[in-house]
Amino acid sequence: MSGTTTTRAGAGGMLGFDPTDPGFQQDPYQHYRRLRESTPVFRSPAGFWVLTRHRECDLVMRDERFGYPSPAATAPDTPDGTALPGGFADQRHMLIFMNPPDHTRMRRVLRDTFGPRVMRSANGYIEQRTGQLLDEALHNGPEFDLITALAHRLPFGVICHLLGVPEPDHLMIEKWAQDYLAGVSPSFTVSQANHQARDEALTGLNDYFLALAAERRRAPGEDVLSRLAAAADQGEISEQELLGTCILLFIAGHGTTTNLIGNGALALLRHPEQLARFRSEPELAASAVEELLRYDSPSHLSIRVAFEDVDLGEGNVVGAGEQVIAVRGAANRDPDAFPDPDTLDLGRTDNRHLSFASGIHVCFGAPLARTQGKVALGTLFRRAPGLTLAADRFEYKPSLLSRALEALPVTTG
Ligand code: HEM
Repeated sequence: MSGTTTTRAGAGGMLGFDPTDPGFQQDPYQHYRRLRESTPVFRSPAGFWVLTRHRECDLVMRDERFGYPSPAATAPDTPDGTALPGGFADQRHMLIFMNPPDHTRMRRVLRDTFGPRVMRSANGYIEQRTGQLLDEALHNGPEFDLITALAHRLPFGVICHLLGVPEPDHLMIEKWAQDYLAGVSPSFTVSQANHQARDEALTGLNDYFLALAAERRRAPGEDVLSRLAAAADQGEISEQELLGTCILLFIAGHGTTTNLIGNGALALLRHPEQLARFRSEPELAASAVEELLRYDSPSHLSIRVAFEDVDLGEGNVVGAGEQVIAVRGAANRDPDAFPDPDTLDLGRTDNRHLSFASGIHVCFGAPLARTQGKVALGTLFRRAPGLTLAADRFEYKPSLLSRALEALPVTTG
């Protein structure tokens, strides 16, 4: 690497904290805190940087000297190592992995695609689907898994609704979307089998959306896919970018929102005094969702690469080409950015959490995610006022990226 550094290795090897530690999943925040207090700008022996303070995490996401690693480095191979067929989309064609100027162009198209009509329709769907899912869960109760019953099914339905995916295809798409995400997420358990499933899922999703886009071209509707197809026909985006966007909406918008609803419900149920406020002060709904996003963030990392040497101060110079992991989950508990960071306070003001990232890649779906959080949690606790946890301990998926509960058993009493 170029430049110099005075950082020292903290406990926990490559990342400065040990995600395989048995206690990590239950409380990653104390592990983050130890690293932030000892080595907030940590240079891993493996040659990348791990940032746990709000200041530096925010900086690398906003500063144009940082961006996504070269697309070739992130593009997956097919199971036999050959390139995917030419017309197929992979990570290179997804907004989230792009740098300007492609990123600027794609983001503009997506903004135009999600006009007021699409958003009104999505908001109506969120209300209606939440009611329907809670009818089913409460009818089958008294005990149910909140992740399966609501947190997972609501956001999945929202993306299907946006793209106009017909109901009978939902299960197939869901399996592919999960396999694909499991194969591209930084995790300590990704295997060769995950990679194979990821590439098969990518092929399945490409084929599926290619056929659905052809149908929409024959009979355009008000959905996002019809609008994307029109943008492709006008030469604003490529056919691969159209397909890549369909896939991206699932991988960016589904699991993350599941985690907001799941982690948010768990945090409220573990803090009865805050839950009482949530119920009795409906005007707190907006700040409550922001605080739940900060307190137990749905996704914990962003990865960037330095395009040139960047001096982060205190003798830490990130060399051109070096990768940086911004641990947003840690930055959200930085006492320099949030007074009493480990306290859940639904009325918190000046809440500049990084759960939707910052800078040019700031979450495109944040308004939809916020609405889902508000409607799902608001309706849940209104319709099930006696809801309590039906277990003492909860397991999380072994992902470094996502803070994802495996299940959240609850009971209406
Ligand atoms: C609570 C739920 C959500 C969270 C926590 C979340 C978080 C994020 C984060 C952290 C990023 C930036 C990642 C990075 O640059 O490293 C991002 C980008 C993105 N998100 Fe979300 N997201 C959520 C929901 C959604 C939804 C519902 C959608 C779509 C309907 C969506 C679509 C996107 C897209 C398209 C991008 C790429 C933006 C770009 O690169 O310019 N997200 N999201």
